[in-house]
Amino acid sequence: MQAEHGCSITGWASYLPRTVVTNQDIMTLFDTSDEWIVERTGIRQRRAADGPFVNPKPSTSPLGGLGTTAQMAVEAGKAALEMAGLTGNDIDLLVLCTTTPDQMVPATSSPLADALSIKGGGMDLNAACAGFTYGLVSSAGFIGAGAERVLLIGSETLTRITNWSDRTNAFLFGDGAGAVVVEAAPEPALLGWDIGVDGSLQPLFYADYGGPGMAMRGQEVFRKAVRVTVDSATKSLEQAKLTPADVALFVPHQANIRIMDAVAERLGLSDERVASVIERTGNTSSASIPIALTEAANHGRLQEGDIVLFAGFGAGMTWASAVWRWGAGPPR
Ligand code: COA
Repeated sequence: MQAEHGCSITGWASYLPRTVVTNQDIMTLFDTSDEWIVERTGIRQRRAADGPFVNPKPSTSPLGGLGTTAQMAVEAGKAALEMAGLTGNDIDLLVLCTTTPDQMVPATSSPLADALSIKGGGMDLNAACAGFTYGLVSSAGFIGAGAERVLLIGSETLTRITNWSDRTNAFLFGDGAGAVVVEAAPEPALLGWDIGVDGSLQPLFYADYGGPGMAMRGQEVFRKAVRVTVDSATKSLEQAKLTPADVALFVPHQANIRIMDAVAERLGLSDERVASVIERTGNTSSASIPIALTEAANHGRLQEGDIVLFAGFGAGMTWASAVWRWGAGPPR
């Protein structure tokens, strides 16, 4: 399957909350070290909404109560709209990818749509850390069905669902948001895509209502993540009739530098072609790909016509990949 209608990413932006949580801060919580965390994950710091980060107690949020998923999404969304020269009024559909909605009801996209004065529809999409790539494919699909402009945002407050007494995974996660505007355009952008879910793997990574927070079987997630991401990216590239040699920039989900390196190596993609912010953000789930994309695009790493490979995996277990041609927007 392939989107017949053309589209283009015409605006992008990210937002990171001010509070920096270093590995030294994490060391005040349980027995660990900066070296161990950096060696296993590549993460040196992450951000936390609701600062300040004060020595958390088990099973309670260590954080104050100000930053929300919607508030961070507003910041990223506004900036992406501004870059595209649009307002909420111009948007047909708002898609908020999040694993950490602010309320059970309504969807967090509702207050977000209000704050951004969105005139069209709005919905939340939860495919865990594969969420943004699911959202990108969905956005191109809505444009194929006639929508003109989609505002696609990934925003997460993972520090709210972190089990701060679990030393096996609490150091992995951070908060943040990233947004893109996807508009109908003359040339096709989504050249290949693949999505998947294997619910039998749910026990590998989950967080229950009322539970202590995220629980994960790290080594199994690691192994599975590398396999499904490589398989998915390969399928998307094949569908696009391209090979890894054609990829100008690989924007993987930022979960762990070792997973990113293993995937890139298996695909034959050298470091210079990989977008990486993991060292400074930790794993921000649905927000990680648009945050990394924003940094790469702002650093001039993307030119018109470049092939971008997106690939993510997450709890569920879910995975998704997309081969995207970076192109010009609609004539204004
Ligand atoms: N600090 C220091 N030592 C720690 C530790 C910590 N925070 N957490 C665990 N350890 C110890 C363990 O007790 C174990 O000690 P032992 O060998 O004496 O028994 C040792 O370190 C190795 O533990 P292990 O769980 O095998 O570590 P690992 O190499 O698998 O690394 C992860 C752990 C979580 C970093 C790694 O499994 C991982 O990155 N998994 C994928 C996670 C992920 O990306 N999830 C998100 C998906 S979207």
